[in-house]
Amino acid sequence: MMGRFAGSLIVSVLFLQGATAAPAAAPVSYGVEADTFHPVKEQNGMVASVDALATQVGVDILKQGGNAVDAAVAVGYALAVTHPQAGNLGGGGFMLLRTASGHTTAIDFREMAPTRASRDMFLDAQGNADSKKSLTSHLASGVPGTVAGLALANKEYGTLPLSRLIAPAITLASKGIVVDEALADDLNVYGKEVLIDHPNSKAIFYRPDGNPWKRGETLVQRDLAHSLTLIAKQGPEAFYKGKIADQIASEMAAHGGLIGKADLANYRAIERKPISGTYRGYEVYSMPPPSSGGIHIVQILNILENFDLAKMGFGSADAMQVMAEAEKYAYADRSEYLGDPDFVKVPWQALTSKDYAKSLAQKIDISKARPSSEIKPGKLAPYESNQTTHFSVVDKQGNAVAVTYTLNTYFGSGIVAGSSGILMNNEMDDFSAKPGTPNVYGLVGGEANAVQPYKRPLSSMSPTIIAKGGKTWLVTGSPGGSRIITTVLQMVVNSIDFGMNVAEATNAPRFHHQWLPDQLRVEKGFSPDTLKLLEARGQHVKVMPTMGSTQSIMIGPDGMLYGASDPRAIDDLTAGY
Ligand code: DON
Repeated sequence: MMGRFAGSLIVSVLFLQGATAAPAAAPVSYGVEADTFHPVKEQNGMVASVDALATQVGVDILKQGGNAVDAAVAVGYALAVTHPQAGNLGGGGFMLLRTASGHTTAIDFREMAPTRASRDMFLDAQGNADSKKSLTSHLASGVPGTVAGLALANKEYGTLPLSRLIAPAITLASKGIVVDEALADDLNVYGKEVLIDHPNSKAIFYRPDGNPWKRGETLVQRDLAHSLTLIAKQGPEAFYKGKIADQIASEMAAHGGLIGKADLANYRAIERKPISGTYRGYEVYSMPPPSSGGIHIVQILNILENFDLAKMGFGSADAMQVMAEAEKYAYADRSEYLGDPDFVKVPWQALTSKDYAKSLAQKIDISKARPSSEIKPGKLAPYESNQTTHFSVVDKQGNAVAVTYTLNTYFGSGIVAGSSGILMNNEMDDFSAKPGTPNVYGLVGGEANAVQPYKRPLSSMSPTIIAKGGKTWLVTGSPGGSRIITTVLQMVVNSIDFGMNVAEATNAPRFHHQWLPDQLRVEKGFSPDTLKLLEARGQHVKVMPTMGSTQSIMIGPDGMLYGASDPRAIDDLTAGY
């Protein structure tokens, strides 16, 4: 141990010795003409989402005098129609919101395990985790939370009636949407894998002639329009106790699923206190458990505070090494300590303390990667998948909302409940089916995240808001499964340490280490020289597909809004007025 620590003294872990002033943040950038990437700039309100139609719905609500929460609720409903890959009524997620007066709160509308769920429900006869059960069967769904979550947000923090916020979604579902490139591609590739086996889903999302979708064709969702109309008229009761509840419960009963009417009636969205921390003079707010995102973003930032990233520079082997090593420790802790706080005691104060971070920072050797096996043993990810969605909204008054919600993988379980038109999630896969067995994102977990009735599966979704001097500064979040935490982290570090404007911070190539597998996943775009240096330090570098799809808004000192959608998504849009 001493030897290892002595080794790290060779390198630039100077600030741990307390001899030097703490490394500072870089000057903030809102973009200048000479920059490579430029944010969208608006004065009165802004929405950033993965889908242009949904963004437009949100901007319209803002223009009509709705606040950021109203707009976010309307975008949430619109995406359930325009972005069935992840937008949903049959899934769940998290909202982080910060009012203009600085009140910051989190709404947990994560799915919940039904009462008949049990610890070993996803094991096969041999006792091995069966990912088919947890991903594509009727057992894959937790009790959906989105309708309850959006209703809670509307009731506590909105200004317009819910029915008015659902109206645009009803129009989009009943009149039909023009299928854009992203939707056509995803329906043709991922949709085909998961939707075709279920007659209800096939009838809606699969073309009758079996031909692939082409950009520009129209997708009408009549059943969904009907369900939306019921919710608009009767409120969330329609979903949890009324006709839609009947549809979901009978779909489940007919096919071996576990969600019953009592499960739906018992579901509650929960308002929680956000995880907060500080980073180089900024205030950080993010999602508390059952998301792991807030805790580990703050934990990693606390570790990074001990290093001068600005001096190391973006894309340098030093900065990437320090970040990757910090990430490994955080993900190792995630596997052990994180779960639904209503079931397990999550030691969040310890995990987010500056002292603990300092002790981890001292273990980081900038010249030599610590093999993950020395931190904790684990297995490789079976395969990967990608689909969740994030949107950010800021209004004229300065209220800010960040929402990440999902069905889990593309189109969730692929199962539409009866004739509701509602696609069901496969969020049960986020529980650990068996200790040490990786889920679809390669994440391992143990007891804290074992399946239990009424428990919410551990998430990585991290809607995040950064403030400076008490004023909201950056609103961000991303999909990406286990990679959400590191994607959001890089938005923060790129903006604060590397002085990038929000568009540059979004466009910059990303990397990720999640402890297990012991692999430094990088997007293309980093210098091969840097990657060679990292290999030489013991990192197992692998160039892999892009990660994350951030939707972010930065607020300038004069209240000007600067937004950026992710170039990694095809039809996303940031707009305002
Ligand atoms: O809650 C979670 O962490 C996952 N169900 C999120 C899934 C996701 O981000 C999919 N992809 N992009």
